[in-house]
Amino acid sequence: MTQAEEQKRQPHLAKAPILAASGLVKNFGGLTAVDNAAIEVGQGSITGLIGPNGAGKTTLFNLLSNFIRPDRGRVIFDGEPIQQLQPHQIAQMGMVRTFQVARVLSRLSVMENMLLGAQKQTGENFWNVWLQPKQVIEEEKQLRERAMRILESVGLVHMAGAYAGALSGGQRKLLEMGRALMTDPKLILLDEPAAGVNPTLIGQICDRILAWNREGMSFLIIEHNMDVIMSLCDRIWVLAEGRNLADGTPVEIQKNAQVLEAYLGQ
Ligand SMILES: Nc1ncnc2c1ncn2[C@@H]1O[C@H](COP(=O)(O)OP(=O)(O)O)[C@@H](O)[C@H]1O
Ligand SMILES: [Mg+2]
Repeated sequence: MTQAEEQKRQPHLAKAPILAASGLVKNFGGLTAVDNAAIEVGQGSITGLIGPNGAGKTTLFNLLSNFIRPDRGRVIFDGEPIQQLQPHQIAQMGMVRTFQVARVLSRLSVMENMLLGAQKQTGENFWNVWLQPKQVIEEEKQLRERAMRILESVGLVHMAGAYAGALSGGQRKLLEMGRALMTDPKLILLDEPAAGVNPTLIGQICDRILAWNREGMSFLIIEHNMDVIMSLCDRIWVLAEGRNLADGTPVEIQKNAQVLEAYLGQ
């Protein structure tokens, strides 16, 4: 296939990547969890990150979003170096992430959790509450409507008024994903979105990811469920022992002998 044909098949390859990291290193005491790793997420792509348990995938996510500072390496998001930024500043730029074990506020309702995900609310500025109550009320109404639409799409609309603590593990993952979407991000990093989620919901999550992707959102997904990875991703990066083992299309990765060996050796 020529380069032009390849670009036609995967148009995002023609553009600069939305996220590009290289030379990332993270040591925990004597253990090198991430060892000179690189990754790229094409603009508009759904990119997979796979590897055996303990390969350093979650740590790599933490480095990309600056939840943990790397010992070395650089991360470019949407054309800007982001190493010096705080996670909330990175989120404001349009990169949000979910956690392997979903972090929701159990004693708040599902709707309240969703509203906390929204940024740039006029009401967040104290004086606006006094000066522009109408606008604040209108904005909150719009946020609630947006939250309900997103909750509907992740199958949680019937739980909107329930405590988040009453949700199952799988439902918490869906809520966390929904909350991330409240910010209308450019890129979402999902850490094992299908883990602990029942098969019907997994199918629904995949459909939603594809729909959001068609609207222009890019994804980087860590997942052990190979059906999910292979059906969603246009490109897959494989990490083993903190290092890049391979990257390629799902078909290339499925027949890569080193990748198979890394998994069988687990
Ligand atoms: N905060 C930490 N302190 C010490 N070791 C850690 C920490 N986080 C991760 N590790 C270790 O780093 C390695 C990679 O972990 P992780 O990134 O969670 O892998 P994966 O997500 O691929 O399963 C593991 O050996 C893990 O025990
Ligand atoms: Mg992990």
